[in-house]
Amino acid sequence: MSFLIDTYISNVKSPAFVYNENEILSKINIIKNISKLASCKIYFPLKAFSFPDALKFMGEYIDGFSASSLFEARLAFEMINAKEKSIHITSPFIVDEELSSVITYCNSISFNSLGQWQRLRGMAKDKISCGLRINPGSLFVKDVRYDPCRRHSKLGIPIKILSSNFNKHSDWMEGVSGLHFHTNCESTNFGELLATVNLICKHLPQVLDRIDWINIGGGYLFESEQDFEHFIEAVLFLKKKFDIQVIFEPGKGIIGQAGSIVSTVVDIFLNDGHNIAILDTTTNHMPEVFEYQFKPDVAQESDEGKYSYILAGSTCLAGDIFGEYRFDKPLKIGSRIVFENMGAYTLVKANMFNGINLPTIYAYTQDGKLEMKRQFTYDDFLSRCGGR
Ligand SMILES: Cc1ncc(COP(=O)(O)O)c(C=O)c1O
Repeated sequence: MSFLIDTYISNVKSPAFVYNENEILSKINIIKNISKLASCKIYFPLKAFSFPDALKFMGEYIDGFSASSLFEARLAFEMINAKEKSIHITSPFIVDEELSSVITYCNSISFNSLGQWQRLRGMAKDKISCGLRINPGSLFVKDVRYDPCRRHSKLGIPIKILSSNFNKHSDWMEGVSGLHFHTNCESTNFGELLATVNLICKHLPQVLDRIDWINIGGGYLFESEQDFEHFIEAVLFLKKKFDIQVIFEPGKGIIGQAGSIVSTVVDIFLNDGHNIAILDTTTNHMPEVFEYQFKPDVAQESDEGKYSYILAGSTCLAGDIFGEYRFDKPLKIGSRIVFENMGAYTLVKANMFNGINLPTIYAYTQDGKLEMKRQFTYDDFLSRCGGR
């Protein structure tokens, strides 16, 4: 995100999370233009990013939000014009006590298991559009930790089980007006979406024949020059053959490249022949770096750079490390380091372990201004610890 380096890198309070409204909008526009061709609706899942001002901004341009919990559903409801737009929820954890609140915030729900559906359908079926989350078992994701279709998955009803129950107990389907699947992670290959749709059509034609909508999940990344042929083919096929509304809910695809974390070097020392640079941020501000042990993109990195540093987070955890990077110039205390492509699954998962404050949040607005949106304080830490 070179705009940050050129213009604003020294202006933000470090550490900072900066989201770029133009970048969000350009991703929304790419997928909206493609979706128009296939008349598919776009919902944004709050699980990827849920900063309220940004949601309000996005809510103007998309068809709805997807939630994974009662709190997310309520936040979605408060951030969008709920009379004109839609809110959908799915979760393995939906309980009786919360369902009536869920119904006030959401227009549609996908039940994660046949048990969840049977327990809750009496309360839900006349008040909210009900669907079932299915699991096609399509296995596109190499790393099982990200794979919703891994063996013994907890996510969705295996399509073969739904198909055999449909034949044996067709009354179980009364009140079901939608299906939902989410089968991928960071894929750029919409051929995999088409393959999933074909698989579902093969196993569940009788279910597809009687529903009104299908949510095809997220898990895909896209650029304007990408080949969307298979996406369009999959959506048009569902619409034409079964006359159903199709919903796509990309998270990282929309927000991933639209957020950066700006940090500052606070100490430098040598250990075993390697330079260690301690930053004022931590992998706890981008926990997937630690969870999945990947090396995040750093804007100033130079493959040919003469100076090499292990960039390390500021907590006591020995493994709170981003990786070893090369730079053209030596780092010094006060040097700024920008982690790019940090929009998704960062702020929503960030924590204050060790009492390290969260990054200050900025918007880089459509008209090119840097607006500070939220600065966290000791009171946020106290409240997170259970104090008041
Ligand atoms: C049901 C569902 N929909 C959409 C998404 C968004 O996925 P992504 O951010 O990879 O596009 C997820 C992510 O876990 C999901 O579980």
